[in-house]
Amino acid sequence: MAHDTTMTLSTIQFTYPTSTRALFCDVSVSFPPGWTAVMGDNGIGKTTLLRIALGRLNPDHGEVTPDPGSLVASYCPQTMDAEPDNLDDFADDWSPGTLAIRRLLGIGQDWPYRFGTLSGGEAKRLQLACALAVRPDVLILDEPTNHVDAEVRGRIIDAMRSYGGIGIVVSHDVELIDAVCTRCAVFVRRHVGSCNVTEIDTYRGNYTQACEQSDADDLRASTERNERRREVARLEDVREQRLRRVLRVNAAKRQGRLVDPHDHDARDRRNGAKATSRDGGASRSYAQMDGRLRRARRDLDGIAEASKRYDGDVWFAGEASHRRELIHEDACNLRRAMSECGVESFRLHRHIGSVAFGGHTSDDGIHEDEDRGRGPALSVGPRDHIGLSGPNGSGKTSLLTVLARHVDPGVRCMSIAQRTCADDSRRAVARLDELSRERSSIVLQAFAELNGDPERLLSGRHPSPGELTKLELCLGIPDRPQLLILDEPTNHLDLHSKQALARALEAFPGAFIVASHDEWFVRRISTIRWTLE
Ligand SMILES: Nc1ncnc2c1ncn2[C@@H]1O[C@H](COP(=O)(O)OP(=O)(O)OP(=O)(O)O)[C@@H](O)[C@H]1O
Ligand SMILES: [Mg+2]
Repeated sequence: MAHDTTMTLSTIQFTYPTSTRALFCDVSVSFPPGWTAVMGDNGIGKTTLLRIALGRLNPDHGEVTPDPGSLVASYCPQTMDAEPDNLDDFADDWSPGTLAIRRLLGIGQDWPYRFGTLSGGEAKRLQLACALAVRPDVLILDEPTNHVDAEVRGRIIDAMRSYGGIGIVVSHDVELIDAVCTRCAVFVRRHVGSCNVTEIDTYRGNYTQACEQSDADDLRASTERNERRREVARLEDVREQRLRRVLRVNAAKRQGRLVDPHDHDARDRRNGAKATSRDGGASRSYAQMDGRLRRARRDLDGIAEASKRYDGDVWFAGEASHRRELIHEDACNLRRAMSECGVESFRLHRHIGSVAFGGHTSDDGIHEDEDRGRGPALSVGPRDHIGLSGPNGSGKTSLLTVLARHVDPGVRCMSIAQRTCADDSRRAVARLDELSRERSSIVLQAFAELNGDPERLLSGRHPSPGELTKLELCLGIPDRPQLLILDEPTNHLDLHSKQALARALEAFPGAFIVASHDEWFVRRISTIRWTLE
């Protein structure tokens, strides 16, 4: 491939065979060398478009140039369960180029031989290493920093910077986009005329610069829309006045026909009206107003407006349990249970605000020190809002698994795991199908309030990873949970959905333990912090 080749997708329309409506009609976007960030709400079609760019899906209309078959392209998928096609080749490849990639991403020697047991962050790194190892002309990364901690994110950024071809990265990670990308292609839903359409806006620069341009564009469009609205209102006013004049003239004419020949005043009024009305003129100018008004309304409709979003709080219909403790775990049991999950040593720090409390842990597990005798090693109260953080491999998922097993049996607990796969999708859609109408409408309302599109979900029935996370969260709502245990719920969520979820959790009346690498999110939702190391 020539150095300066640009990949272009022109006027693409695509409909999934099982879906009742097109996912997008007539979208165009181009990808020159360098990194372009692809952004947009969950389920809007980012992954689908990239699969079209790779030649793995055929559009209904439109074309991709150069032909994807003529390029070496590699794709690093969004989900972690997809084993790279070239994993065996990678395992035996000790060439200097591949060694450099291994070093850059910190790939363990045994990783290619145990893909199924890798942690989320490790699997992501190995997928990326395999994608880079084929030296592709086009490298497509679908949400590469989901599941990873700050240190791994730094490594991924370095690896991306070392690549010189056409790079396309789908991401909701502002820090990553700002660090690497020089262009942003943003999927948006716009209300044009009377329908919602998907469009792609392209901006030069990283996320921060793209936002500045997009804000300026929005302001310009809103000023123009207001001007055109005012013009429509003015023309409506003028037309109204002209209509009244035509009616007055007609009334005068009718009156004229009926005037008593001896009523001189009425005769004068009629003649006066004839002289001033230019009645044919009044009707004509009224008719002209119709044309001008139609044109002005068409111009107004032509200015697209961002589709409405829900910005309310999710109705998380949970409640606080009356029990004093929902989970009560002593140090010894916890240590044993963690060890059964393969976590032999861990340290757990607990804080309310900036104040440490409870005990801290030693390398062989948790123990109580200054608070000896003040209660169990771990206890979760009915309204505790706990944010759990810690680097990859520190044992967050294991801790959540252990705690989920030890929830008091009388507590209604909703637990959502980190890994999601095609089976989870099928199960979630089947659960939705089984719900009564009333429950299903509670779920779909909450789905919409999390910035999801229930119509698209119901029409496609194959939730995207972000849609699946939201659906799993919402499916638990009708049971009025008292405790939520969520493992990395913001992975895959678009920026607006993440904000909506943060608002919902903040207002949740019961208790939760939420593990996340997203420092903004953890800080926003929790009153108690647990940090594992
Ligand atoms: N095989 C399929 N059949 C029918 N509909 C599908 C299929 N795969 C995906 N969809 C639907 O197409 C839409 C777009 O999916 P896609 O995975 O491209 O979204 P996305 O923008 O990548 O979302 P996310 O941010 O969650 O990854 C979604 O509404 C999804 O439900
Ligand atoms: Mg996707």
